Amino acid sequence: MTNKDRKQISFDDFDELHNPGPEQTDFEQIVDKAISRRGFLGAGLGLGAAAFVLGTTALTPTKAKASSRFSFEPVAANSLDTVTVPKGYSWHVVSKWGDPLWSKSLDFDHKTRGTGESQELAFGDNNDGMALFAENGRDILVVNNEYTNRNIIYGNRESELPETADDIRKGKAAHGITVAEIAQKNSRWSIVKDSDLNRRITADTPMEITGPARGHALLQTAADATGTRSLGTWNNCGNGRTPWGTYLACEENFNGYFSSSDENYSPSEELKRYGVKNEDWGYGWAREDERFDISKNPNEPNRAGYIVEFDPRNPSSTPKKRTALGRFKHENAEVVVNHDGHVVVYMGDDERGEFIYRFVSESKYSQGADNSDLLETGRLYVAKFHDDQTGEWLELTPETTGMASQAEVCVHSRLAGSAVGATTMDRPEWVAAHPKRAEIYCALTNNKNRGKKPNAGGDETAVGGPNPRAANLYGQIVRWKPENEDHTSAGFRWDLFVMAGNPTVHKDAYGGSENVNANNMFNSPDGISFDNNGMLWIQTDGKYSNEGDFAGMGNNQMLIGDTETGEIQRFLVGPKECEVTGITWSGDRKTVFVGIQHPGEEGNSHFPEGGSAVPRSSVIAVTRDDGAVIG
Ligand code: FEO
Ligand code: CA
Ligand code: CA
Repeated sequence: MTNKDRKQISFDDFDELHNPGPEQTDFEQIVDKAISRRGFLGAGLGLGAAAFVLGTTALTPTKAKASSRFSFEPVAANSLDTVTVPKGYSWHVVSKWGDPLWSKSLDFDHKTRGTGESQELAFGDNNDGMALFAENGRDILVVNNEYTNRNIIYGNRESELPETADDIRKGKAAHGITVAEIAQKNSRWSIVKDSDLNRRITADTPMEITGPARGHALLQTAADATGTRSLGTWNNCGNGRTPWGTYLACEENFNGYFSSSDENYSPSEELKRYGVKNEDWGYGWAREDERFDISKNPNEPNRAGYIVEFDPRNPSSTPKKRTALGRFKHENAEVVVNHDGHVVVYMGDDERGEFIYRFVSESKYSQGADNSDLLETGRLYVAKFHDDQTGEWLELTPETTGMASQAEVCVHSRLAGSAVGATTMDRPEWVAAHPKRAEIYCALTNNKNRGKKPNAGGDETAVGGPNPRAANLYGQIVRWKPENEDHTSAGFRWDLFVMAGNPTVHKDAYGGSENVNANNMFNSPDGISFDNNGMLWIQTDGKYSNEGDFAGMGNNQMLIGDTETGEIQRFLVGPKECEVTGITWSGDRKTVFVGIQHPGEEGNSHFPEGGSAVPRSSVIAVTRDDGAVIG
């Protein structure tokens, strides 16, 4: 692939091209396999996969009814290079890639796009999931810095790739997490430079490995024979937060940073399941840091792909990798305290045909007690959805998976999920829990391979259940209610809240569910989060061509859904070629912070500064002009 190709396709498409799943063209074979597996598990499905058709009453999503719970005039789709919010609302930039966190750091230089040193002292790139923590009247913004677009961060180089050791240092420092105190003056939020709370966590920050896999042979490397200390976190996508005040960063496409100096090196089947190959995605980290050379350090990739927990109030705290929550391409981590005190974490694995997971803590949460290690010990489950709108959680243990130990289950969780016959999903993105009742939502962003190709482990991806459309280019949001409103119970009932689609182009299932129309259509739901009123905020990471299947949808956007009525309205449109991702609220709920990631990923944006400025991922603040509460 040429560098031109590399920069002109989305991150996910690049992963697919670079790391395609196994070829499988015989649809009958897929169906046979599906049926025999079901027979083996005795799951008792009523419908053959090939017989499942859309439009059965069982799968009709919520019909939208008129609602008075929307307090804004919806925004029309557009392809402008700015942020559009409803009348009576305003937005401003809080922080953007390269903004200094300390007065000793240099201002962002549009010509060089920063150096290793300046980036280590500045806001990271491609902000994604985030959370705001209040501490004694101070506000701490914690933001994932998921990845970098090589054509933007290295746009000062002819090759648009890292060329020097310092380029690679800059790239590693642009990843990770930014912790910054922010404050509001004259109704505008900005970073408090030199705050003692400011911190950068990068691909080189020391981490502690905890949980069942701590110290296991699979985690031991030349640099850390104990398998208990690793360096850095990168490609953190969505996030989570706990009731005990910690932040959860979620390692997603960690594989794209590893390569092999020996081109004849043959990565293990386990590494291949996670997409680790002899070639990286253009980051070049192995050139400067042998940890990323898999022929020399084949276990290093086993030390990434976890949920990372840390206390943002303590800038010297060591982040902890929580292996008990499994290793996969984590999207976010939605934490719920069950009525009996068990902490339940719902998590998606964002790749075509991968799974949805649930962690249930061994110990119980108790307000005011020491809850700091609740995520260290517990049970890990994977979801199986049945076509009759029921589902079950299958526990992952050595007994159920045939693996040698729980440590192995926690390191090779994808293989464990395959072993028990989990349902292959249309790329599970964020999970969100309703604030007032036991009801969980998960965005299934899209899956062009549905019904066409198995997942990376060879599991079939037959059309059916909550993944009802072949070659699903628009995505859907599934929701489920745990049995007896108990998040630890084995069973659940599910339905679809929305199927995205384009009713102006398609008259069939690809036109979307009844609550989608020409005025609110969108594709590829990704970030989702509830506000205090139980309204679901939906962010998109999809196609913005505004043509063909996507005509009339404009740029990526943010919508709000009323989960009582099914009604959905568009609240915000992002600038050109961005993804809208990451959301959190101020303590007084009068500001909603929203992430604008990689504007101009194809080279056609100057957001937010305009003119000929380098486009910069940004966190923006949205407020109401009348100063009222938002959500
Ligand atoms: Fe980083 Fe699944 O989006
Ligand atoms: Ca995402
Ligand atoms: Ca995404």
